[in-house]
Amino acid sequence: MKLAVVREQAPGETRVAATPETVKKFIALGATVAVEPGAGSHASIAGADYVAVGATVAADAVAGANIVLGVQGPDPAGLAAAAPGAWIVAGLDPFGQRGRVDAYAAAGLEALAMEFMPRITRAQSMDILSSQSNLAGYKAVIEAANLYGRAFPMMMTAAGTISAAKAFVMGVGVAGLQAIATARRLGAQVSATDVRSATREQIISLGAKPIFVETVAGIEGEGAGGYATEMSEEYQKAQAELVSSHIAKQDIVITTALIPGRAAPRLISDVQIASMKPGSVIFDLAVAQGGNVEGSVPDQVVEKHGVKILGYSNTPAKLPADASALFARNLYNFLAAFWDKEQGKPVLDEEIGNAIRLTQGGQVVNPRLLG
Ligand code: NAI
Repeated sequence: MKLAVVREQAPGETRVAATPETVKKFIALGATVAVEPGAGSHASIAGADYVAVGATVAADAVAGANIVLGVQGPDPAGLAAAAPGAWIVAGLDPFGQRGRVDAYAAAGLEALAMEFMPRITRAQSMDILSSQSNLAGYKAVIEAANLYGRAFPMMMTAAGTISAAKAFVMGVGVAGLQAIATARRLGAQVSATDVRSATREQIISLGAKPIFVETVAGIEGEGAGGYATEMSEEYQKAQAELVSSHIAKQDIVITTALIPGRAAPRLISDVQIASMKPGSVIFDLAVAQGGNVEGSVPDQVVEKHGVKILGYSNTPAKLPADASALFARNLYNFLAAFWDKEQGKPVLDEEIGNAIRLTQGGQVVNPRLLG
């Protein structure tokens, strides 16, 4: 069983899908591992570090590989030498990169999309969305603090008192929870909102103030898999009014709202930005999915009405070493959980296999892509 670790090709991608720690563990399972040269360089991992744990580093790492590991989906053209029916295990962006999925199918490869991992307890350690969102939520606050021309904590000095920054987190999933915790640690006064009423207690338990639409029912039971679904017009109007009055008093706003398979919901309009104090900062974590904030542009600081707006197209890639370490463990935890010692290879069960498998036997087979 040969595993190959590719060097990421996407612009701005700094992460790598395997670290010396996980390579060592794969070898202990009985696999051989080949790594493309330079694969770990942005994450401060040298080729020699992989060699030291038993891997080979070679330009033709993919040749004869049974499993190809990537952070993003590797270019199908570079996979011609992989073993017939090889697995491609990566974040494959199935909706955004449908053409690439079709190419995997045509090449007879079995593409496994790690972002389709079901959000069930036993798969938590395999969940790339959680591990990467957590880091993104942290980084969003750090970047916002960096752009903010004031301090976060209250400071009482001989020259006078500085008041604490007011930070508002919109969307309290994995990234939002970490954003709340990070902003709190930096000393900000934090409030947060979500459409899922279950997040109210989580917000309070992190020491932040919940800001919720009370007059219209939210998604009490949530959508499938704990995700949000699109809200009614009535709710959206009530939410906009509530946010308008709150946002005008905020110094920092972090938006994280996403709805799977759809464009990110628009949470902040230009009129609302204009109501904020000059010098305030908005970080739009959803900018790559269309943005929660009117006028946000990926990877650029946009200044509107004296408010700075920033969002990265790939926030976890700004923390390459930690993001790679967690991503690599997610892939290892996944493959190791299904490793069949007798066959010397992973054998998936139906629940997880059917959820993440995009292509098999020359066909696109995933219901989410067919439906
Ligand atoms: P996400 O990245 O899809 O969305 C971020 C947040 O935005 C969500 O909390 C969502 O409710 C919120 N949102 C959507 N539309 C909004 C709007 N109009 N206004 C305000 N907020 C809005 O969410 P993420 O981080 O992937 O988490 C989704 C759920 O999955 C959560 O319930 C989380 O606890 C759960 N989860 C479960 C795991 C497991 O059991 N294995 C692992 C990770 C997350």
